Amino acid sequence: MQRCDALARHSELPGGLTRVFLSPESRAAGEAVLGWMREAGMQARLDAIGNVVGRYEGARAGLPCLMLGSHLDTVRDAGRYDGMLGVVSAIECVHVLNTAGRRLPFSVEVVGFGDEEGVRFGTTLLGSRALAGTLDPKVLETRDAAGKSIAEALRDFGLDPCFIPDIKKQAHEVLAYAELHIEQGPVLEAERLPVGVVSAINGFTRLRVTLRGEAGHAGTVPMHLRRDALAAAAECVLAVEKISKAHRELVGTVGRIEARPGAINVIPGEVQFTVDVRSPEDHLRRRASASVHDEVKRICKDRNIELRIEPLQEFGSSACAPWLMAQLERAVEAQGVRALRLPSGAGHDGMAIKQIADIAMLFVRCKGGISHHPAESITEEDARVGAAVLFDFISNFKS
Ligand code: GLV
Ligand code: MN
Ligand code: MN
Repeated sequence: MQRCDALARHSELPGGLTRVFLSPESRAAGEAVLGWMREAGMQARLDAIGNVVGRYEGARAGLPCLMLGSHLDTVRDAGRYDGMLGVVSAIECVHVLNTAGRRLPFSVEVVGFGDEEGVRFGTTLLGSRALAGTLDPKVLETRDAAGKSIAEALRDFGLDPCFIPDIKKQAHEVLAYAELHIEQGPVLEAERLPVGVVSAINGFTRLRVTLRGEAGHAGTVPMHLRRDALAAAAECVLAVEKISKAHRELVGTVGRIEARPGAINVIPGEVQFTVDVRSPEDHLRRRASASVHDEVKRICKDRNIELRIEPLQEFGSSACAPWLMAQLERAVEAQGVRALRLPSGAGHDGMAIKQIADIAMLFVRCKGGISHHPAESITEEDARVGAAVLFDFISNFKS
């Protein structure tokens, strides 16, 4: 808990927590984590995409690893546990092994992924995709709001993007991936359980929509002659909501919207907004995303607005591996806790790591299910149970 507090101090804005990929704050947080990894007996370094990676050798050097971890970047005005709890818990587990002088029949690697949230560049899972070898080099040309590309930001950070292909892990090097993470939802609290075993991670589709109408004087242009891009966008936002409400297993969000020129007395000429659609069922998500395209097109046609829809990113639903869920469940029950399986509505690094290894996740209860919010909160006791389950899982892991 103290380490989560310490990491929360590395923030863009004092008094809150915002730490985006390759920022000065992310460097400071990464250095703290590197130090903790070394204290726990790991060889630790920053890789070419800015992941913090610690390795604890097994009974002999060079054995394949059980990979653990989570991310160290945050959303804007974030809570302090989303991501970080999984990294510090994994380090603590290795620390206990090391203190006992215990070596396992496999190595353990703990990764603090540099980018899971995708806040800075609008594309997520950069760290885990690079490790899985699925990061298309073209993605490195993606620019942030200040116009800097990922490749440029990496170089400014002192990293060389040319080495990214080299960090790809081969499937035979990774026995499995396991991540401890806060639930970010209300299920465990409702079930009065400190932890739960994740069954699958919902898939997502992300789009960027640009509407172009015509800016003009807010006092002089009669209503019937306007091509107001923001009024059109408002209709689109409601369409996304309606489409997503049509099925219990669908959620859809317009999380960011920007209107230009953005003055009280000017009709908005251009609007850009994002769409994020998720579901445990890929066919529902695909159908919803197609409906969003159709509805947005219809709205723009009716209002004589030019439209551009760019697909930003798409991930299918990612099932956790039954053999790993079984081992996690045994570790949960060993703590005297009923083992509940639940899906994850939030995205996680395991979605990308699944390309090279089977994945598992352990959720820790969070207060009111609140996350991506400064009020994110967990109890010390739940953090303890989570870490104890993770430790038991690692100690008894069989591939
Ligand atoms: C990450 O937290 C996401 O689910 O968007
Ligand atoms: Mn998050
Ligand atoms: Mn997270």
